[in-house]
Amino acid sequence: MSNLAYETDLQAPQQDGDRAGREAMDSLRPVPRITIQAFCESDGVSKPIERAGEDRRMFKAHLKVLMGGMDAAAELYQTASTPNLIILESKSEPRELLESLGKLAEVCDPTSKVIVIGHYNDVWLYRELMKSGVSEYMVAPLTIADIISTIYGIFVDPDAPPIGNSIAFIGAKGGVGSSTIAHNVGWAVSSLFENEVVVADLDLAFGTANINFDQDPAQGIAEAVFAPERIDDVYLDRLLAQCSERLSLLAAPSTLERVYDFDADAFSQIIDVAQRSAPIVVLDVPHVWNGWTKSVLQQADEIVITATPELANLRNTKNLVDTLKKLRPNDSPPHLILNQCGVPKRPEITVDDFADPLGLMPLAVIPFEPQLFGNAANSGRMLAETDAQSDIVKSIYEVAHSVTGRSEPKEKKKSGLGSILGKLKLKK
Ligand SMILES: Nc1ncnc2c1ncn2[C@@H]1O[C@H](COP(=O)(O)OP(=O)(O)O)[C@@H](O)[C@H]1O
Ligand SMILES: [Mg+2]
Repeated sequence: MSNLAYETDLQAPQQDGDRAGREAMDSLRPVPRITIQAFCESDGVSKPIERAGEDRRMFKAHLKVLMGGMDAAAELYQTASTPNLIILESKSEPRELLESLGKLAEVCDPTSKVIVIGHYNDVWLYRELMKSGVSEYMVAPLTIADIISTIYGIFVDPDAPPIGNSIAFIGAKGGVGSSTIAHNVGWAVSSLFENEVVVADLDLAFGTANINFDQDPAQGIAEAVFAPERIDDVYLDRLLAQCSERLSLLAAPSTLERVYDFDADAFSQIIDVAQRSAPIVVLDVPHVWNGWTKSVLQQADEIVITATPELANLRNTKNLVDTLKKLRPNDSPPHLILNQCGVPKRPEITVDDFADPLGLMPLAVIPFEPQLFGNAANSGRMLAETDAQSDIVKSIYEVAHSVTGRSEPKEKKKSGLGSILGKLKLKK
Protein backbone atom coordinates (compact mmCIF):
# COMPACT_ATOMS: atom_id res chain seq x y z
CA MET A 1 0.00 0.00 0.00
CA SER A 2 1.61 3.27 -1.02
CA ASN A 3 1.63 6.23 1.29
CA LEU A 4 0.26 8.21 -1.58
CA ALA A 5 -2.92 6.15 -1.60
CA TYR A 6 -3.27 6.64 2.13
CA GLU A 7 -2.85 10.39 1.77
CA THR A 8 -5.30 10.52 -1.09
CA ASP A 9 -7.92 8.75 0.94
CA LEU A 10 -7.55 11.04 3.86
CA GLN A 11 -7.58 14.13 1.71
CA ALA A 12 -10.41 13.33 -0.65
CA PRO A 13 -12.81 14.83 -1.33
CA GLN A 14 -12.73 18.07 0.69
CA GLN A 15 -9.45 19.32 2.06
CA ASP A 16 -10.97 21.22 4.96
CA GLY A 17 -13.40 18.53 6.06
CA ASP A 18 -10.65 15.96 5.98
CA ARG A 19 -8.14 17.97 7.89
CA ALA A 20 -10.81 18.21 10.54
CA GLY A 21 -11.31 14.43 10.28
CA ARG A 22 -7.62 13.79 10.77
CA GLU A 23 -7.42 16.17 13.69
CA ALA A 24 -10.43 14.45 15.22
CA MET A 25 -8.61 11.11 14.76
CA ASP A 26 -5.57 12.39 16.66
CA SER A 27 -7.56 12.48 19.85
CA LEU A 28 -8.95 8.95 19.47
CA ARG A 29 -7.85 6.18 21.83
CA PRO A 30 -7.03 2.77 20.37
CA VAL A 31 -9.95 0.51 19.50
CA PRO A 32 -10.23 -2.42 21.97
CA ARG A 33 -9.53 -6.11 21.34
CA ILE A 34 -12.51 -6.81 19.14
CA THR A 35 -12.99 -9.05 16.14
CA ILE A 36 -14.20 -7.31 12.98
CA GLN A 37 -15.21 -8.87 9.67
CA ALA A 38 -16.00 -6.68 6.68
CA PHE A 39 -17.88 -7.96 3.63
CA CYS A 40 -17.42 -5.55 0.75
CA GLU A 41 -18.71 -5.26 -2.78
CA SER A 42 -16.25 -2.72 -4.15
CA ASP A 43 -12.56 -1.89 -3.92
CA GLY A 44 -13.52 1.68 -3.15
CA VAL A 45 -14.84 0.46 0.22
CA SER A 46 -12.61 -2.55 0.93
CA LYS A 47 -9.36 -0.59 0.45
CA PRO A 48 -9.98 2.16 3.02
CA ILE A 49 -11.21 -0.48 5.50
CA GLU A 50 -8.01 -2.49 4.98
CA ARG A 51 -5.95 0.63 5.47
CA ALA A 52 -7.92 1.59 8.55
CA GLY A 53 -6.92 -1.84 9.89
CA GLU A 54 -3.27 -0.85 9.56
CA ASP A 55 -3.73 2.32 11.58
CA ARG A 56 -2.12 2.33 15.02
CA ARG A 57 -5.48 2.85 16.69
CA MET A 58 -6.62 -0.50 15.33
CA PHE A 59 -3.62 -2.65 16.26
CA LYS A 60 -5.44 -4.51 19.03
CA ALA A 61 -8.47 -5.34 16.88
CA HIS A 62 -8.55 -8.41 14.63
CA LEU A 63 -9.84 -7.32 11.21
CA LYS A 64 -10.65 -9.50 8.22
CA VAL A 65 -11.77 -7.92 4.96
CA LEU A 66 -13.64 -10.18 2.54
CA MET A 67 -15.53 -9.57 -0.69
CA GLY A 68 -19.01 -10.78 -1.61
CA GLY A 69 -21.16 -8.43 0.46
CA MET A 70 -24.13 -9.62 2.49
CA ASP A 71 -24.53 -12.90 0.57
CA ALA A 72 -21.02 -13.99 1.50
CA ALA A 73 -21.65 -12.99 5.11
CA ALA A 74 -24.94 -14.91 5.27
CA GLU A 75 -23.25 -17.99 3.87
CA LEU A 76 -20.28 -17.85 6.22
CA TYR A 77 -22.38 -17.31 9.35
CA GLN A 78 -24.52 -20.36 8.63
CA THR A 79 -21.68 -22.27 10.22
CA ALA A 80 -19.13 -19.81 11.64
CA SER A 81 -19.68 -17.74 14.76
CA THR A 82 -20.11 -14.02 14.26
CA PRO A 83 -17.46 -11.45 15.28
CA ASN A 84 -18.00 -8.49 17.59
CA LEU A 85 -18.47 -6.17 14.63
CA ILE A 86 -19.71 -6.93 11.12
CA ILE A 87 -19.24 -4.30 8.42
CA LEU A 88 -21.45 -4.84 5.38
CA GLU A 89 -21.24 -3.02 2.10
CA SER A 90 -24.23 -3.16 -0.20
CA LYS A 91 -24.84 -1.47 -3.52
CA SER A 92 -28.50 -2.53 -3.45
CA GLU A 93 -31.28 0.01 -3.39
CA PRO A 94 -32.74 0.62 0.09
CA ARG A 95 -35.64 -1.84 0.13
CA GLU A 96 -33.54 -4.68 -1.27
CA LEU A 97 -30.78 -3.87 1.19
CA LEU A 98 -33.16 -4.22 4.14
CA GLU A 99 -34.43 -7.53 2.84
CA SER A 100 -30.94 -9.02 2.51
CA LEU A 101 -30.08 -7.72 5.96
CA GLY A 102 -33.16 -9.43 7.38
CA LYS A 103 -31.97 -12.77 5.99
CA LEU A 104 -28.48 -12.23 7.32
CA ALA A 105 -29.80 -11.34 10.76
CA GLU A 106 -31.24 -14.85 11.11
CA VAL A 107 -27.75 -16.34 11.25
CA CYS A 108 -26.03 -13.61 13.29
CA ASP A 109 -25.65 -13.66 17.03
CA PRO A 110 -27.50 -10.81 18.75
CA THR A 111 -24.34 -9.65 20.48
CA SER A 112 -22.64 -8.66 17.19
CA LYS A 113 -22.72 -4.99 16.23
CA VAL A 114 -23.38 -4.10 12.62
CA ILE A 115 -22.24 -1.19 10.43
CA VAL A 116 -23.86 -0.95 7.01
CA ILE A 117 -22.15 0.91 4.17
CA GLY A 118 -24.52 1.74 1.36
CA HIS A 119 -24.50 3.73 -1.83
CA TYR A 120 -27.77 5.58 -1.25
CA ASN A 121 -28.00 8.72 0.81
CA ASP A 122 -31.50 7.94 1.97
CA VAL A 123 -33.03 9.15 5.22
CA TRP A 124 -35.78 6.51 5.24
CA LEU A 125 -33.20 3.75 4.90
CA TYR A 126 -31.09 5.28 7.67
CA ARG A 127 -34.05 5.40 10.04
CA GLU A 128 -35.13 1.85 9.26
CA LEU A 129 -31.61 0.56 9.85
CA MET A 130 -31.30 2.38 13.17
CA LYS A 131 -34.67 1.02 14.25
CA SER A 132 -33.58 -2.51 13.40
CA GLY A 133 -30.56 -2.36 15.66
CA VAL A 134 -27.81 -1.49 13.16
CA SER A 135 -25.20 0.65 14.92
CA GLU A 136 -24.37 2.94 12.00
CA TYR A 137 -25.24 3.53 8.37
CA MET A 138 -22.50 5.13 6.27
CA VAL A 139 -22.66 6.23 2.68
CA ALA A 140 -19.75 5.40 0.34
CA PRO A 141 -17.19 6.76 -0.49
CA LEU A 142 -15.49 6.61 2.90
CA THR A 143 -12.20 7.82 4.28
CA ILE A 144 -10.02 5.95 6.74
CA ALA A 145 -10.91 8.59 9.32
CA ASP A 146 -14.64 7.92 8.80
CA ILE A 147 -14.17 4.23 9.43
CA ILE A 148 -11.97 4.53 12.50
CA SER A 149 -14.07 7.21 14.12
CA THR A 150 -17.26 5.22 13.56
CA ILE A 151 -15.77 2.10 15.15
CA TYR A 152 -14.46 4.30 17.94
CA GLY A 153 -17.91 5.77 18.49
CA ILE A 154 -19.41 2.31 18.91
CA PHE A 155 -16.73 0.70 21.07
CA VAL A 156 -14.58 3.31 22.80
CA ASP A 157 -16.51 6.51 23.32
CA PRO A 158 -16.68 7.12 27.08
CA ASP A 159 -20.40 7.72 26.69
CA ALA A 160 -20.83 4.34 24.98
CA PRO A 161 -21.52 1.39 27.30
CA PRO A 162 -18.50 -0.89 27.88
CA ILE A 163 -18.22 -3.49 25.13
CA GLY A 164 -17.33 -6.30 27.48
CA ASN A 165 -19.54 -8.68 29.36
CA SER A 166 -18.22 -9.77 32.72
CA ILE A 167 -18.88 -13.30 33.91
CA ALA A 168 -18.14 -13.93 37.59
CA PHE A 169 -17.44 -17.49 38.77
CA ILE A 170 -17.73 -18.36 42.45
CA GLY A 171 -17.75 -21.67 44.31
CA ALA A 172 -20.40 -22.65 46.87
CA LYS A 173 -17.48 -23.96 48.91
CA GLY A 174 -13.70 -23.91 48.51
CA GLY A 175 -12.19 -26.56 46.25
CA VAL A 176 -15.34 -27.31 44.24
CA GLY A 177 -13.63 -26.51 40.94
CA SER A 178 -14.94 -22.97 40.38
CA SER A 179 -11.57 -21.59 39.25
CA THR A 180 -10.81 -24.55 37.00
CA ILE A 181 -14.20 -24.13 35.31
CA ALA A 182 -13.75 -20.34 35.03
CA HIS A 183 -10.38 -20.74 33.28
CA ASN A 184 -11.60 -23.45 30.95
CA VAL A 185 -14.77 -21.57 30.01
CA GLY A 186 -12.68 -18.43 29.35
CA TRP A 187 -10.34 -20.44 27.18
CA ALA A 188 -13.29 -22.03 25.34
CA VAL A 189 -14.86 -18.63 24.60
CA SER A 190 -11.56 -17.33 23.20
CA SER A 191 -10.97 -20.34 20.98
CA LEU A 192 -14.53 -21.22 19.91
CA PHE A 193 -15.68 -17.71 19.07
CA GLU A 194 -12.26 -16.20 18.32
CA ASN A 195 -13.18 -13.64 20.92
CA GLU A 196 -10.71 -11.76 23.07
CA VAL A 197 -11.02 -12.81 26.68
CA VAL A 198 -9.41 -11.37 29.80
CA VAL A 199 -9.33 -13.70 32.81
CA ALA A 200 -8.91 -11.84 36.09
CA ASP A 201 -7.84 -13.91 39.10
CA LEU A 202 -9.34 -12.18 42.13
CA ASP A 203 -7.93 -14.69 44.61
CA LEU A 204 -4.81 -12.63 45.27
CA ALA A 205 -3.34 -14.84 47.98
CA PHE A 206 -3.98 -18.31 46.59
CA GLY A 207 -5.09 -17.87 42.95
CA THR A 208 -4.28 -20.71 40.57
CA ALA A 209 -4.85 -19.11 37.16
CA ASN A 210 -1.07 -18.59 36.85
CA ILE A 211 -0.54 -22.35 37.38
CA ASN A 212 -3.42 -23.44 35.15
CA PHE A 213 -2.26 -21.22 32.29
CA ASP A 214 1.43 -21.92 32.95
CA GLN A 215 2.31 -18.24 33.40
CA ASP A 216 4.68 -16.46 35.73
CA PRO A 217 4.03 -12.77 35.12
CA ALA A 218 6.00 -10.18 37.03
CA GLN A 219 2.95 -8.08 37.79
CA GLY A 220 -0.76 -8.49 37.51
CA ILE A 221 -3.98 -7.67 39.26
CA ALA A 222 -2.34 -6.65 42.55
CA GLU A 223 -0.68 -3.65 40.85
CA ALA A 224 -4.08 -2.55 39.65
CA VAL A 225 -5.94 -2.81 42.95
CA PHE A 226 -3.16 -1.22 44.96
CA ALA A 227 -2.86 1.73 42.53
CA PRO A 228 -6.37 2.31 41.18
CA GLU A 229 -5.54 5.90 40.17
CA ARG A 230 -3.07 4.60 37.54
CA ILE A 231 -5.44 2.28 35.75
CA ASP A 232 -6.24 3.02 32.13
CA ASP A 233 -6.13 0.90 28.99
CA VAL A 234 -2.37 1.42 28.51
CA TYR A 235 -1.60 0.40 32.08
CA LEU A 236 -3.93 -2.59 31.81
CA ASP A 237 -2.02 -3.81 28.74
CA ARG A 238 1.18 -3.86 30.78
CA LEU A 239 -0.44 -5.97 33.48
CA LEU A 240 -1.88 -8.58 31.14
CA ALA A 241 -0.01 -11.82 30.51
CA GLN A 242 -0.74 -13.29 27.08
CA CYS A 243 -1.74 -16.96 27.50
CA SER A 244 -2.91 -17.78 23.99
CA GLU A 245 -3.69 -15.82 20.84
CA ARG A 246 -6.86 -14.32 22.25
CA LEU A 247 -6.68 -14.93 25.97
CA SER A 248 -4.84 -12.78 28.43
CA LEU A 249 -4.58 -13.05 32.16
CA LEU A 250 -4.61 -10.59 35.02
CA ALA A 251 -2.77 -12.93 37.33
CA ALA A 252 -2.82 -12.98 41.10
CA PRO A 253 0.54 -12.70 42.88
CA SER A 254 -0.33 -15.85 44.90
CA THR A 255 2.07 -14.81 47.63
CA LEU A 256 1.50 -13.98 51.29
CA GLU A 257 3.90 -11.09 51.79
CA ARG A 258 1.03 -8.66 51.88
CA VAL A 259 -2.45 -9.07 53.25
CA TYR A 260 -5.34 -8.41 50.95
CA ASP A 261 -7.97 -6.37 52.76
CA PHE A 262 -9.80 -4.28 50.23
CA ASP A 263 -12.51 -1.63 50.15
CA ALA A 264 -15.82 -2.68 48.70
CA ASP A 265 -15.17 -0.99 45.35
CA ALA A 266 -11.46 -1.92 45.04
CA PHE A 267 -11.96 -3.93 41.84
CA SER A 268 -14.54 -1.69 40.16
CA GLN A 269 -12.04 0.43 38.23
CA ILE A 270 -9.95 -2.44 36.86
CA ILE A 271 -13.05 -4.41 35.89
CA ASP A 272 -14.48 -1.39 34.10
CA VAL A 273 -11.25 -0.78 32.15
CA ALA A 274 -10.98 -4.49 31.28
CA GLN A 275 -14.58 -4.44 30.06
CA ARG A 276 -13.77 -1.52 27.82
CA SER A 277 -10.80 -3.38 26.46
CA ALA A 278 -12.11 -6.88 25.70
CA PRO A 279 -15.53 -8.34 24.85
CA ILE A 280 -15.44 -10.99 27.58
CA VAL A 281 -14.01 -10.60 31.07
CA VAL A 282 -13.94 -13.71 33.24
CA LEU A 283 -13.79 -12.95 36.96
CA ASP A 284 -12.45 -15.80 39.07
CA VAL A 285 -13.88 -14.84 42.48
CA PRO A 286 -12.58 -16.70 45.55
CA HIS A 287 -14.95 -18.41 47.95
CA VAL A 288 -15.18 -15.62 50.54
CA TRP A 289 -17.95 -13.24 51.48
CA ASN A 290 -16.90 -9.66 52.11
CA GLY A 291 -17.58 -6.17 50.82
CA TRP A 292 -15.65 -6.47 47.58
CA THR A 293 -16.76 -9.97 46.59
CA LYS A 294 -20.34 -8.87 47.17
CA SER A 295 -19.88 -5.78 45.01
CA VAL A 296 -18.06 -7.71 42.25
CA LEU A 297 -20.95 -10.17 42.12
CA GLN A 298 -23.50 -7.40 42.27
CA GLN A 299 -21.95 -5.70 39.25
CA ALA A 300 -21.17 -8.72 37.06
CA ASP A 301 -23.23 -9.28 33.93
CA GLU A 302 -23.48 -13.03 34.52
CA ILE A 303 -22.74 -15.20 37.56
CA VAL A 304 -21.85 -18.86 37.59
CA ILE A 305 -22.02 -20.74 40.91
CA THR A 306 -20.16 -24.03 41.00
CA ALA A 307 -21.22 -26.55 43.64
CA THR A 308 -20.65 -30.20 44.44
CA PRO A 309 -23.67 -32.39 45.27
CA GLU A 310 -23.49 -32.24 49.06
CA LEU A 311 -25.61 -30.68 51.75
CA ALA A 312 -23.29 -27.82 52.74
CA ASN A 313 -22.95 -26.88 49.06
CA LEU A 314 -26.72 -26.88 48.68
CA ARG A 315 -27.18 -24.70 51.78
CA ASN A 316 -24.51 -22.23 50.60
CA THR A 317 -25.82 -22.15 47.02
CA LYS A 318 -29.33 -21.45 48.32
CA ASN A 319 -28.02 -18.56 50.42
CA LEU A 320 -26.06 -17.18 47.47
CA VAL A 321 -29.00 -17.47 45.08
CA ASP A 322 -31.38 -15.76 47.55
CA THR A 323 -28.91 -12.99 48.36
CA LEU A 324 -28.11 -12.36 44.70
CA LYS A 325 -31.81 -12.12 43.92
CA LYS A 326 -32.08 -9.28 46.45
CA LEU A 327 -28.90 -7.59 45.20
CA ARG A 328 -29.87 -7.93 41.51
CA PRO A 329 -33.67 -7.83 41.40
CA ASN A 330 -33.78 -7.08 37.68
CA ASP A 331 -31.31 -9.70 36.48
CA SER A 332 -31.72 -13.33 35.64
CA PRO A 333 -30.68 -15.73 38.41
CA PRO A 334 -27.12 -17.07 38.48
CA HIS A 335 -26.15 -20.14 36.46
CA LEU A 336 -25.46 -23.32 38.38
CA ILE A 337 -22.84 -25.95 37.60
CA LEU A 338 -22.77 -29.19 39.55
CA ASN A 339 -19.18 -30.44 39.59
CA GLN A 340 -17.25 -33.42 40.89
CA CYS A 341 -20.33 -35.62 40.70
CA GLY A 342 -20.11 -39.37 41.19
CA VAL A 343 -17.16 -39.63 43.58
CA PRO A 344 -16.92 -43.38 44.37
CA LYS A 345 -18.55 -44.35 47.69
CA ARG A 346 -19.59 -40.78 48.46
CA PRO A 347 -23.26 -40.28 49.34
CA GLU A 348 -24.50 -37.52 47.04
CA ILE A 349 -27.63 -35.44 46.61
CA THR A 350 -29.26 -36.20 43.25
CA VAL A 351 -29.33 -33.51 40.57
CA ASP A 352 -33.10 -33.06 40.92
CA ASP A 353 -32.98 -32.84 44.71
CA PHE A 354 -30.22 -30.26 44.45
CA ALA A 355 -31.90 -28.19 41.75
CA ASP A 356 -35.44 -28.24 43.16
CA PRO A 357 -35.06 -26.01 46.23
CA LEU A 358 -33.03 -23.54 44.16
CA GLY A 359 -35.50 -23.32 41.30
CA LEU A 360 -32.53 -23.60 38.92
CA MET A 361 -31.63 -26.24 36.37
CA PRO A 362 -27.87 -26.82 36.27
CA LEU A 363 -26.18 -25.58 33.12
CA ALA A 364 -23.84 -28.57 33.32
CA VAL A 365 -23.34 -31.63 35.49
CA ILE A 366 -19.66 -32.50 35.44
CA PRO A 367 -18.42 -35.86 36.74
CA PHE A 368 -15.53 -36.35 39.13
CA GLU A 369 -12.63 -37.16 36.79
CA PRO A 370 -9.41 -36.85 38.80
CA GLN A 371 -7.20 -38.13 36.00
CA LEU A 372 -8.27 -35.57 33.40
CA PHE A 373 -8.36 -32.65 35.86
CA GLY A 374 -5.13 -33.73 37.53
CA ASN A 375 -3.24 -34.09 34.27
CA ALA A 376 -4.45 -30.70 33.03
CA ALA A 377 -3.64 -28.94 36.31
CA ASN A 378 -0.20 -30.51 36.70
CA SER A 379 0.89 -29.69 33.16
CA GLY A 380 -0.48 -26.11 33.04
CA ARG A 381 -2.86 -26.94 30.21
CA MET A 382 -6.56 -26.60 29.64
CA LEU A 383 -8.88 -29.64 29.68
CA ALA A 384 -9.44 -29.34 25.92
CA GLU A 385 -5.68 -29.37 25.34
CA THR A 386 -5.40 -32.49 27.49
CA ASP A 387 -8.31 -34.46 25.99
CA ALA A 388 -10.27 -32.64 23.30
CA GLN A 389 -12.73 -35.55 22.87
CA SER A 390 -13.80 -35.72 26.51
CA ASP A 391 -17.49 -35.23 27.35
CA ILE A 392 -16.38 -32.81 30.05
CA VAL A 393 -14.84 -30.59 27.37
CA LYS A 394 -18.16 -30.69 25.50
CA SER A 395 -19.93 -29.57 28.68
CA ILE A 396 -17.45 -26.72 29.05
CA TYR A 397 -18.18 -25.67 25.45
CA GLU A 398 -21.92 -25.70 26.17
CA VAL A 399 -21.36 -23.52 29.22
CA ALA A 400 -19.27 -21.15 27.06
CA HIS A 401 -22.19 -20.83 24.65
CA SER A 402 -24.77 -20.23 27.38
CA VAL A 403 -22.90 -17.68 29.45
CA THR A 404 -22.04 -15.55 26.41
CA GLY A 405 -25.60 -15.71 25.09
CA ARG A 406 -24.53 -17.59 21.99
CA SER A 407 -26.63 -20.40 20.65
CA GLU A 408 -25.16 -23.55 19.13
CA PRO A 409 -24.11 -22.82 15.52
CA LYS A 410 -26.56 -25.28 13.96
CA GLU A 411 -29.65 -24.09 15.77
CA LYS A 412 -28.99 -20.40 15.94
CA LYS A 413 -31.79 -18.43 17.43
CA LYS A 414 -33.12 -15.49 15.49
CA SER A 415 -31.07 -12.53 16.54
CA GLY A 416 -32.59 -9.40 18.01
CA LEU A 417 -31.89 -7.76 14.69
CA GLY A 418 -33.73 -10.50 12.81
CA SER A 419 -36.84 -10.46 14.87
CA ILE A 420 -37.10 -6.69 14.76
CA LEU A 421 -36.49 -6.60 11.04
CA GLY A 422 -39.11 -9.30 10.58
CA LYS A 423 -41.69 -7.07 12.20
CA LEU A 424 -40.85 -4.06 10.07
CA LYS A 425 -43.15 -3.32 7.26
CA LEU A 426 -40.92 -2.38 4.40
CA LYS A 427 -43.06 0.54 3.33
CA LYS A 428 -41.67 3.79 2.16
N1 LIG B 1 -14.75 -32.55 37.98
C1 LIG B 1 -13.57 -32.68 38.63
N2 LIG B 1 -13.02 -33.89 38.81
C2 LIG B 1 -11.85 -34.02 39.46
N3 LIG B 1 -11.14 -33.02 39.95
C3 LIG B 1 -11.62 -31.76 39.79
C4 LIG B 1 -12.87 -31.53 39.12
N4 LIG B 1 -13.09 -30.20 39.12
C5 LIG B 1 -12.04 -29.62 39.74
N5 LIG B 1 -11.16 -30.54 40.15
C6 LIG B 1 -9.93 -30.33 40.90
O1 LIG B 1 -10.29 -29.81 42.15
C7 LIG B 1 -9.28 -28.96 42.67
C8 LIG B 1 -9.87 -27.63 43.12
O2 LIG B 1 -10.26 -26.90 42.00
P1 LIG B 1 -10.31 -25.30 41.95
O3 LIG B 1 -10.74 -24.95 40.59
O4 LIG B 1 -9.07 -24.71 42.48
O5 LIG B 1 -11.51 -25.06 42.99
P2 LIG B 1 -12.05 -23.71 43.62
O6 LIG B 1 -11.68 -22.57 42.75
O7 LIG B 1 -13.54 -23.92 43.68
O8 LIG B 1 -11.46 -23.63 44.99
C9 LIG B 1 -8.26 -28.82 41.56
O9 LIG B 1 -7.20 -29.69 41.83
C10 LIG B 1 -9.01 -29.29 40.32
O10 LIG B 1 -8.15 -29.83 39.35
MG1 LIG C 1 -10.65 -20.75 43.22
